[in-house]
Amino acid sequence: MKFFFKPSASSTQSIPESSEIPQHIAVIMDGNGRWARKRFLPRVAGHKRGVEIVRDLVKQCALMDVKFLTLFAFSSENWRRPDDEVSFLMGLFMDALKREVVKLHDNNIRLILIGDRTRFNAELVAQIEASEQLTAQNTGLTLTIAANYGGRWDILQATNLMVKTLPSKQSAFTEEDIAPYLSMHYASEPDLFIRTGGEKRVSNFLLWQLAYTEFYFTDTLWPDFDSKAFNDAIGSYQKRERRFGRTSEQLMAGK
Ligand code: IPE
Ligand code: IPE
Ligand code: MG
Repeated sequence: MKFFFKPSASSTQSIPESSEIPQHIAVIMDGNGRWARKRFLPRVAGHKRGVEIVRDLVKQCALMDVKFLTLFAFSSENWRRPDDEVSFLMGLFMDALKREVVKLHDNNIRLILIGDRTRFNAELVAQIEASEQLTAQNTGLTLTIAANYGGRWDILQATNLMVKTLPSKQSAFTEEDIAPYLSMHYASEPDLFIRTGGEKRVSNFLLWQLAYTEFYFTDTLWPDFDSKAFNDAIGSYQKRERRFGRTSEQLMAGK
């Protein structure tokens, strides 16, 4: 099996090497509410159960030597939900961080949060910063949690920072100019995107970074997404031919 890792490589600027095990997996963990409703439970029971699935998935990815796992936990549009559900999700996030960070650290996992932190309370921001600092030097799996994240927000914040840094640039901006300011600048682009819960949309997740990602949609609800369901996703990925604009014949000729 060939492993290749070049964080800043862009799929539109050069052809990335593909490996049998996706190096970066990005997941929209959807279907918690429906899982709970099916059991006549409050929606939040599904969120609680969902955290356990996250724990199992992180473990499995670390074992498989996946380099980056990026999980969509709360979108910039999820503030539109009822206040009590939003507060429950914030509380759950805080508790999970407090409870899990030492375990992550012990397993050499680096934790990074992407998203707009300005709407979080000070206590949560402090907990996020402490968790990131504790795990910053770890060299195993990088676990990224996207919270109050939106793909458009990401592109806009990066554009604003880029323009601020290069105010007098005469020529047109390039991908290389914007790359360092995008939230996921430290990671290769996702190889595999998984969305559970049956919906077939991107819901404003990593818009820039998904340019050549393989998409996998499953009806399985997030709290039911066990290791068998995850292996099915990996199996589907392994059957894909990643052409990046080329023809099949070129790929077969090794070009
Ligand atoms: C995903 O599950 C979790 C979050 C968006 C925080 P949902 O809460 O969207 O569950 P469904 O889609 O309503 O079933
Ligand atoms: C996407 O799920 C966001 C997260 C999983 C955090 P949603 O349930 O919010 O997406 P939509 O509203 O169905 O598109
Ligand atoms: Mg949903």
